[in-house]
Amino acid sequence: MDKPAAPATADGWEPKIVAFFCNWCTYLAADLAGTSRMKYAPNTRVIRVMCSGRVDPQFVLEALAHGADGVLIGGCHPGDCHYQSGNYKALRRFRLLKRMLLAFGIEDERVRLEWISAAEADKLRDVVNEMVAQVKALGPARLGTPPEDWAVGLEEEADEEVEGVTV
Ligand code: FES
Repeated sequence: MDKPAAPATADGWEPKIVAFFCNWCTYLAADLAGTSRMKYAPNTRVIRVMCSGRVDPQFVLEALAHGADGVLIGGCHPGDCHYQSGNYKALRRFRLLKRMLLAFGIEDERVRLEWISAAEADKLRDVVNEMVAQVKALGPARLGTPPEDWAVGLEEEADEEVEGVTV
């Protein structure tokens, strides 16, 4: 029996989760969950990478900066990486990234790393549901600035600088 996904918030807001899934394990688990008709929260937008070690911390920061409320990274279990040590590198980067997020004042619970093998569709479902519930409890990240607002901010800053200058 599928566990229910977290209910929508009072205002109907739903978190957007960007998910980087390793081609050889977690992506296949998501595929299996789909073909097994498992129900889980539809909030993830999956990006397939060849290995969790391919996920540069910059990708995570960019996802958050462009409006994601959370980022999930899925890789092969330790010892099962198809590139031998990619997932160990991912783990080291992930630990540093979490410290960096906290230094920026961003809740580190918005980013999660999980080892999910191709056969663990049920784990994938549970992790996605848990993460969606966790990010819902945190609320929107609001880190993304829509591109149309960039110029407005810059114009205001430029005006302030000009006002401060005496000619
Ligand atoms: S190939 Fe899956 S984590 Fe490296």
